Amino acid sequence: VCVEDFADPRHRAALADVEVLITGWGCPPLDGAAAALMPRLRVVLHAAGSVRALIGEEFWERGLIVSSAAQANALPVAEYTLAAILFAAKDAFGARERYRTRHRYQHAAETARIGSFGRRVGLIGASRVGRRVLDLLRPFDLAVSVSDPYLGRAEARDLGARLLELDELLATSDIVSLHAPDLPETRHLLDRRRLALMPDGAVFINTARGALVDEPALADELESGRISAVLDVTAAEPLPADSPLYRLPNVFLTPHIAGSLGNELARLGQTAIEELDRYRSGLPLNHQVLREDLARTA
Ligand SMILES: NC(=O)c1ccc[n+]([C@@H]2O[C@H](COP(=O)([O-])OP(=O)(O)OC[C@H]3O[C@@H](n4cnc5c(N)ncnc54)[C@H](O)[C@@H]3O)[C@@H](O)[C@H]2O)c1
Repeated sequence: VCVEDFADPRHRAALADVEVLITGWGCPPLDGAAAALMPRLRVVLHAAGSVRALIGEEFWERGLIVSSAAQANALPVAEYTLAAILFAAKDAFGARERYRTRHRYQHAAETARIGSFGRRVGLIGASRVGRRVLDLLRPFDLAVSVSDPYLGRAEARDLGARLLELDELLATSDIVSLHAPDLPETRHLLDRRRLALMPDGAVFINTARGALVDEPALADELESGRISAVLDVTAAEPLPADSPLYRLPNVFLTPHIAGSLGNELARLGQTAIEELDRYRSGLPLNHQVLREDLARTA
């Protein structure tokens, strides 16, 4: 059965019996009221990313088995990021803007610093998305560093990157891409002081969450023209109409499209179905989410 509202009396009987629930974006929270309606629920297969807001205390207490498609959802985010990094390295966003508005054709003085050969890329967070970006960056002649408090030096090397403290990463990267989760500790991780560490001409890419960045401070840096940005996420979404981020020529702004959209949604559904097959065959799930993981994951 397909259920949109757990309280709908037409679904009472089905919910009373249900053992496995496949959920997606927009699913009502599995809270105490839902727990009372689904006494036999054992497994939730979430065909989307984070389960943080979905699974309530009552279900965790009950030992509910939870799986999410966050790994599948990481793939398109990493693809968007790869595209943004390569375009940023070529200054394609800036060149487009100068060509479009001033009919300015490229010349050597402007292009001397441009290109991907040996360009310094810094990734914040060896998360699912961050690791996938690291994989995708392997074939290129880029110098990649990563910053993550949970990552060791040897592991970073195996991922093809140099491990740096966040401040040093910011100060030594031409392109910085943010892939850390939104947690109480990561709120405004990129504050005014840290944003100022980025070298002149740097490009900041955010496909993670707006809450990780002090947005007025970022807007000031962008307004000054010192750095530029590719932003798929902002503190408030949609971004308020009067935000300077809409009109700044050095901001490439997209409306939270990096994650799964269109045909990419089928990959999320496929993950849930594969997990269902594993559960039915008595196999361990590939993407189980443990309650204790939530302290450091998206
Ligand atoms: N734009 C989109 O459409 C879209 C889609 C999916 C995910 N996201 C966002 O992308 C980001 C990454 O998602 P994910 O599923 O890969 O995350 P994840 O759950 O895999 O991230 C967890 C990892 O982040 C790292 N981490 C934790 N705290 C950190 C810190 N302070 N600094 C650096 N690294 C830290 C740790 O390695 C941890 O294991 C999240 O912010 C998520 O919300 C955006």
